[in-house]
Amino acid sequence: MSKVYVFTEFGGPEAQELIDRPEPHPGAGELAVQVRAAGVNPADWKTRADRHGTDQPLPAPMGHELSGVVTAIGADVHDFTVGQEILGLAAPGHGAFAEHTIVRATDAVAKPEEISFADAATIPVAAAAAYDATHQIELEPGQKLLVIGAGGGVGLMVAQIGRVHEFTVIGIASESKRKVVESTGATFVPSGDGVADRARQAAPDGVDLILDLVGGEALREVADLVADPTRIISAADPATATELGGTGLVRTPQAMAKITGVIEYDLVDPHISALYPLERAGEAIATVEDGHATGKIVLEMLHAPAS
Ligand SMILES: NC(=O)c1ccc[n+]([C@@H]2O[C@H](COP(=O)([O-])OP(=O)(O)OC[C@H]3O[C@@H](n4cnc5c(N)ncnc54)[C@H](OP(=O)(O)O)[C@@H]3O)[C@@H](O)[C@H]2O)c1
Repeated sequence: MSKVYVFTEFGGPEAQELIDRPEPHPGAGELAVQVRAAGVNPADWKTRADRHGTDQPLPAPMGHELSGVVTAIGADVHDFTVGQEILGLAAPGHGAFAEHTIVRATDAVAKPEEISFADAATIPVAAAAAYDATHQIELEPGQKLLVIGAGGGVGLMVAQIGRVHEFTVIGIASESKRKVVESTGATFVPSGDGVADRARQAAPDGVDLILDLVGGEALREVADLVADPTRIISAADPATATELGGTGLVRTPQAMAKITGVIEYDLVDPHISALYPLERAGEAIATVEDGHATGKIVLEMLHAPAS
């Protein structure tokens, strides 16, 4: 048997629990993976809270991004071997918050030795989204990038990718995140009342791109800092971005491998602020659901040594 963290009803966190299930076997094109670490994302609680539809069977395994070791391969898998360390996305119907899971070979990348399992687990969703966000509209060195939600899981990586590309990054986050946002080389602007004036002070001539990781009022308040509204991209709230003349984040299949290379060369740090064991997945999810996480929250799975 293998432990899996699930939700048993759509709604609040009270419907989450750790259950035992038989260890899953890979179908064609799939890898069975012993999970070593899993990143926690807003998508995890949003799925449970019914924001992404209610068409999946219950109990539903939670968690999307993970790293681990391949324990078995299905038919038609040629690029991976048993024993290989990988990072990837849990296949539909399977979860990352589990001792064992299934990953489609097309959603997996070999984990470089230089990247720890914990850091690797932040790549498939958060780091890959940060990569796509910074490449959807390409800026030139010196151009100004405003990041709303700069201290969160995606935001800190966006700010660091911006530094690698020599963009001038301005990061909006709460005062508690001043140091960590400034550590990326970004100019920090505190969120809250008067944020638009403070952002305007930081960029008197406006900015060249807004990457929004919060949505709603937080985006509306500063949207006119960009002269051309098509240069608003939101990962958090595509509807508001579209209403303002911008667009939602478009994800690409290449991003996971590309950002893995960037992290391997130590150019971007996923900035893990807390590690939890699988048994405390509920606390880890609550930290992200609170909406004010710093960097990435990661679950680490402890496995008994093989006897
Ligand atoms: N489409 C995709 O593929 C994709 C992939 C990844 C993420 N996303 C979405 O992108 C968003 C961000 O993801 P994430 O993983 O970075 O979330 P996260 O780790 O929870 O970070 C969100 C950050 O926003 C900050 N924030 C909250 N209110 C704010 C405000 N008014 N002004 C400025 N900052 C504020 C929070 O802390 P402070 O308030 O303390 O600053 C927090 O650090 C989520 O909506 C997520 O669902 C989409």
